[in-house]
Amino acid sequence: MKLLTISTLAVVANWAQVAHSIDPAQELLRSHSESSSRSSLLALHKGLITHESISGNEESVGKYLAEYLESKNFTVEIQEVEPRTSSHPPRNNIFAYTGKSRETRTLISSHIDTVPPFWKYERRGDEIWGRGSVDAKGSVATQIIAVEELLAAGKILEGDVSLLYVVGEEVGGEGMRKANDLGLEWETVIFGEPTELKLASGHKGTMGVQISAKGKAGHSGYPELGKSANAMLIPALNALLHAELPSSEKYGNTTLNIGRMEGGVAGNVIPENASALLAIRIADGSPEDVQKIIVDTVEKQGEELDVKFMGGYGPVYIDSDVPGFETIVVNYGTDIPNLKGEHKRYLYGPGTILMAHSDHEHLLVSDLETAVKGYKALIEHSLK
Ligand SMILES: *[C@@H]1O[C@H](CO)[C@@H](O)[C@H](O)[C@H]1NC(C)=O
Ligand SMILES: *[C@@H]1O[C@H](CO)[C@@H](O)[C@H](O)[C@H]1NC(C)=O
Ligand SMILES: *[C@@H]1O[C@H](CO)[C@@H](O)[C@H](O)[C@H]1NC(C)=O
Repeated sequence: MKLLTISTLAVVANWAQVAHSIDPAQELLRSHSESSSRSSLLALHKGLITHESISGNEESVGKYLAEYLESKNFTVEIQEVEPRTSSHPPRNNIFAYTGKSRETRTLISSHIDTVPPFWKYERRGDEIWGRGSVDAKGSVATQIIAVEELLAAGKILEGDVSLLYVVGEEVGGEGMRKANDLGLEWETVIFGEPTELKLASGHKGTMGVQISAKGKAGHSGYPELGKSANAMLIPALNALLHAELPSSEKYGNTTLNIGRMEGGVAGNVIPENASALLAIRIADGSPEDVQKIIVDTVEKQGEELDVKFMGGYGPVYIDSDVPGFETIVVNYGTDIPNLKGEHKRYLYGPGTILMAHSDHEHLLVSDLETAVKGYKALIEHSLK
């Protein structure tokens, strides 16, 4: 059978043509099945959002998802992931496939945790609001419905596609790293994150940095008897704000965010400790290249500061060779580098990252419907 790989616009145009050429009874049937598929989609999306799943607290949404997939006759494997901290509940990755074939050619995947705080589900006309509505429960729901519809239409069979929903994406990717223990390989992995319904052709790298200063406490009236940790840290941060960091045509500038600063205990005490947390979005080269610039810049300030680097990777290339999709480069990190293997990888999903993580996270019902078509096209392309 000839597989569809055309753009969503072209799909709509085709449907319009088909609609003209079929009789009214069939048309009624078609529109009935369309509205029932919309209500299954919206119900699943709502079910996912209703379960609060701020990173570390994914237990209940995982259970909901596993039960949902079992009710649709998927074989479901529960993969335990370490609780986020000793005070967090247990949590699991959810891995599902049809029949007995846990080995499949294509994997479709996203994450079930969200950033804080929780915002409840709310339908406002054509919009759906709520924490995770975009990042990434919009992707999760539309991926699952896409797979269900392809199975129902006989366009995919056992052994073609499996689904993986991981925990902990927003806080370091423990869930996806654990998924490497499934011991599986795929030809293609389709990752779901908000890409405005475009195919991402790459995303920036990222790296966390902590800079700390150790001074000597004392009475603020006698500065010569102490050493201010704040006065050590501030010039270094200022120098970093002006440091020249790598840039590239594809990814733009490497950017540096001083996201958190802490220092001292009171206005009239010479601060003994000070520290800052930075997030760097890498546009070119490796984390090591950027680390060298940071260490050199800090050292030039002549103070003894402690610089610690946390994790990190350079820009991530993503395949985007599917006809009919617009492409986009994004500045956020994903689980893509956490999943080992030589697979082809795609990144696609409904909604925009500018809404994700915000207090007005929402998307359009039509974005969800378009994403189902988009995922179907990507899956079929991957199985050609
Ligand atoms: C699941 O499989 C059972 C038995 O094979 C079948 O009777 C049932 O209709 C299936 N349910 C769905 C939702 O496909
Ligand atoms: C990158 O930085 C340069 C110099 O700071 C600035 O002129 C340019 O607009 C930036 N490019 C992007 C894509 O933000
Ligand atoms: C500074 O940090 C050290 C540990 O590194 C701690 O023992 C000390 O109490 C801190 N000082 C202040 C004033 O918070």
